Amino acid sequence: MTDLTEPATGNGPPAGCPAHGGAMRLGGLEFQQSPSELYRAMRREYGPVAPILLDGDIPAWLVLGYAEVSYVTSHDDLFARDSRRWNQWPSIPADWPLMPFVGYQPSVLFTEGAEHQRRAGVITQALEGVDQFELAHWSSRIAHQLIDAFAGSGRAELMGSYAHALPMRAAVQMCGMPAGGDDTEELVRDLRITLDAHEGDDPVAAYVRVQERIQQLVKDKRSAPGPDVTSRMLVHSAQLSDEEIVQDLISIIAAAQQPTANWICNTLRLLLTDDRFALNVSGGRLSVGQALNEVLWLDTPTQNFIGRWAVRDTQLGGRQIRAGDCVVLGLAAANTDPQIWPEGHIGAENSAHLSFSNGEHRCPYPAPLLADVIARTAVETLLERLPDVVLGVEPEELTWRPSIWMRGLTALPVRFTPVVR
Ligand code: HEM
Repeated sequence: MTDLTEPATGNGPPAGCPAHGGAMRLGGLEFQQSPSELYRAMRREYGPVAPILLDGDIPAWLVLGYAEVSYVTSHDDLFARDSRRWNQWPSIPADWPLMPFVGYQPSVLFTEGAEHQRRAGVITQALEGVDQFELAHWSSRIAHQLIDAFAGSGRAELMGSYAHALPMRAAVQMCGMPAGGDDTEELVRDLRITLDAHEGDDPVAAYVRVQERIQQLVKDKRSAPGPDVTSRMLVHSAQLSDEEIVQDLISIIAAAQQPTANWICNTLRLLLTDDRFALNVSGGRLSVGQALNEVLWLDTPTQNFIGRWAVRDTQLGGRQIRAGDCVVLGLAAANTDPQIWPEGHIGAENSAHLSFSNGEHRCPYPAPLLADVIARTAVETLLERLPDVVLGVEPEELTWRPSIWMRGLTALPVRFTPVVR
């Protein structure tokens, strides 16, 4: 096993910190290429809860065990979501790279207890109102439009021109902004910049424009409601304020976009590189549904989720956790925990994985179903339109994005016989 970590150096966490000494600094390209090896090694060395160092050597715990992740997520009285509890804030610079994920915002993501139930209840009901057939229809239309743009050329880079664009457009449509409008296009562009800034982009300015556009959407839907998520949130008996709805709409779109995009892309990669599935594309054994499910077990989009913060001193997996410690949910590691796969066989038909997390803050109930509709439609439409699609590079040339949080490819180049619709 390659040594995938760097030793913690003298400018690490202060003495007395629970993660001091022997903590693993996550990072390095090899980590992204084969994280499952790292999780296996960490489990061997540390057990189900590992001391880790995040960017800038900020200490935290990575929970690797299925039982332990389930325990943390189902005890929100002990492991809570409000990041202001963190005992490391004095060491964290304002421009810390993980700030967008841990910096407190007044959205559903960081609320707790009765307030969380109120906010999440509104989201759940608003998402429950989405007609899955209609969503499949929109997703298919968006998929066809995106494929039209490259179908005649015989080659495409599916990550940028398909997998990322599709769920974003589907989510915006669910919220009541029909695809194709100038406003929608601008919003989609700005959301892409806020979630995945490229060189030369200004994510802060883009975020301000996203907020303004969603504020306008909320205003429009107050005066002219429609059959969409935004309007259902506005009329909900919990009577959320417009500001709360704006925050939660942004959370819904952001929460939908990246993981669904990576779910689509990781599934396409599996279908295009694994013979068990490749056979099926031309009438073989394993289905797109099985590929989607296998990805959730073995290559899940949200590998690690930050996180929970300990409410008081406690024990977890034999570790002493201090009040205010940050606990990262190792969802990918938990899914491949040998404790739940004693035979070493991973990737069952069932859906008992933790890819959508668990407990009070899990991905809210209808969202996984909606994500499944979007992802399944995206994959099936692509295979129908481009039946002879193959990878445009050797499988081993595909590279994973340098992130310990999201598992997704940097690019998915493909070739196919050019088709005109
Ligand atoms: C239509 C697509 C989706 C929507 C609308 C959606 C929505 C949401 C929302 C609103 C939350 C915040 C819940 C809260 O804090 O109470 C959330 C959390 C989450 N979602 Fe989703 N999501 C979608 C797709 C996905 C996909 C495809 C995955 C991964 C396969 C995923 C994994 C998660 C995880 C891991 C969390 C964090 C839960 C936690 O804190 O324990 N979601 N999602």
